[in-house]
Amino acid sequence: MPRITLVFLLCVSLLPAHAQQVNKAKQGKSLTPKRGQTDAHGHQWWQHAVFYEVYPRSFADGNDDGVGDLKGITSKLGYLRDLGVDAIWITPCFPSPQVDFGYDVSDFENIDPQYGTLADFDRMVQEGRKQNVEIILDFVMNDTSDKHKWFIESKSSRHNPKRDWYVWRDGHGREQPPNNWTSLFGHSAWKWDDATKQFYYHTFYPEQPDLNWRNPAVKQAMFDVTRFWYKRGVAGFRLDAVDNLFEDPELKDNPNQAEKYQYGDPEQDRIHNSNLPEVHVVLKELRKVADESHAVLIGETWTADVAALKAYYGEHDNELQLPMDFLFTQVNKLSPAEFRKQMAGVIDSGGWPVYLLSNHDIPRAYSRYGDGSHNDAIAKLTAALYLTLPGTPIMYYGEEIGMANSEPKRIEDVKDPIGKLGWPKEKGRDGERTPMQWNDSPNAGFSAAAPWLPVSPSYKTHNVATEQQDPDSILNFYRSVLKLRHEDAAMLEGKYVALNEKDNNVLSYLRVDGDRAILVALNMTGEAQKPAFDLSSQGFADAQPKVLLTTMKSGPGSLDSLSLEPFSVYIAEVKK
Ligand code: GLC
Repeated sequence: MPRITLVFLLCVSLLPAHAQQVNKAKQGKSLTPKRGQTDAHGHQWWQHAVFYEVYPRSFADGNDDGVGDLKGITSKLGYLRDLGVDAIWITPCFPSPQVDFGYDVSDFENIDPQYGTLADFDRMVQEGRKQNVEIILDFVMNDTSDKHKWFIESKSSRHNPKRDWYVWRDGHGREQPPNNWTSLFGHSAWKWDDATKQFYYHTFYPEQPDLNWRNPAVKQAMFDVTRFWYKRGVAGFRLDAVDNLFEDPELKDNPNQAEKYQYGDPEQDRIHNSNLPEVHVVLKELRKVADESHAVLIGETWTADVAALKAYYGEHDNELQLPMDFLFTQVNKLSPAEFRKQMAGVIDSGGWPVYLLSNHDIPRAYSRYGDGSHNDAIAKLTAALYLTLPGTPIMYYGEEIGMANSEPKRIEDVKDPIGKLGWPKEKGRDGERTPMQWNDSPNAGFSAAAPWLPVSPSYKTHNVATEQQDPDSILNFYRSVLKLRHEDAAMLEGKYVALNEKDNNVLSYLRVDGDRAILVALNMTGEAQKPAFDLSSQGFADAQPKVLLTTMKSGPGSLDSLSLEPFSVYIAEVKK
């Protein structure tokens, strides 16, 4: 019996009754409006939805060839519904040579045979409708595969009509590229083409030539790609690498920094090939196309600060509805002060926040925040944090069971090309992309065949089947907090009010909704903490808190004598 289950059984009689009830509860009536509708507060479906990222290679393998696929995803939509997920974002599942595991797209309007067919896609959308799970696709706007028919034509001659669909330039001979720009994946961002004696530009791998978004024909063709999928029932897109769409036409050199980054090249201030103002013009137009289908646009928006993030919403909320706040993912320690600062920045900016803990490019939260001995408690703590904040959360598959990062140990095992290039400083992203852990059978129930990446050794204890049986598991905690989020209006609409802003140990806040509020207190330390709450300035002076959800083993008692166990979560309702 896992240790946490044993502890749970011993302590179950001490738990406050409400916590047990919440743990047993099924997802009930959700307050999330349907697509195209708004709720009484004027909020749309994506504002109350919980999104969940699926990396298709690694989620569920429907045909037992070791690589996940759409049939596999379809078979798990019921699981996701029960978990409390409203929409899934599937990373690219289009035909691709898989140099960048799907981010090198060779046909935007089809499904890669290893993931299935368009008919499988349509079945997934239908099943999603039955389960109330919307489908979001990845829109790789910045580049195509070098095997895409557009690039093959473009490359065929300097006079081809598609030549100007990509960024071709003369260099100074074949050895000297047009300027000093480096690829985000290492070395020069220019690749020489011997047949036509010019260089083409690639932000990422040389197999991913950048599209020329200054060409109106490119824009039209790409907008039509989104229309193709909207017609097939897609509810929106996650826009890949959106800050890289435009480059300075004069190709001015970027300033080099003194520091070298993991591929040995100098770090650059990417002032001439990233975040150019033209990006916002395209986003406004793309939004108009999305609005015709009540669709949502999520952005992969890496920004240096909140002001740049804010710009992605558009001055009149006419660009991205959901630009991801990656600044939140950069808070890499359990620091109440840093989280507070980050949350206040985004919330005060007036944008609708979009929080995530990790994704297919960012090491898993379980390992980033875990201290090695309280990792499961910390996984619940970080879940409680970003799932009780105002805004829209995007979960990453496996986070709900506490999947750990599982990096390759030897360079010969690395699959992600940047891991081969940057080893050992940069080990690549295989660690956060290992197969979903469904049960404790071989290959974690992901596939009957050897998976494309080895499963993490943690699958014996951290898997869906085992955790479903354990009321104290991370999985059941996620279900409980998501249920609360869907069913309690204060969780969705309540105003965020920071409490005890000088406390360096406990992060606490209210979500105030009229004459009631939800109090969230998160002990971010390994010691018991006794926070003092004075809620009189919010009008809740004499409130008797009613615990809605807690990970405490003993009854928390009254607010005055509240003692928070190490890394514990305390969520309670207070009324005026
Ligand atoms: C995006 C994707 C990443 C990919 C890169 C280049 O950043 O999230 O996985 O490698 O684009 O295609």
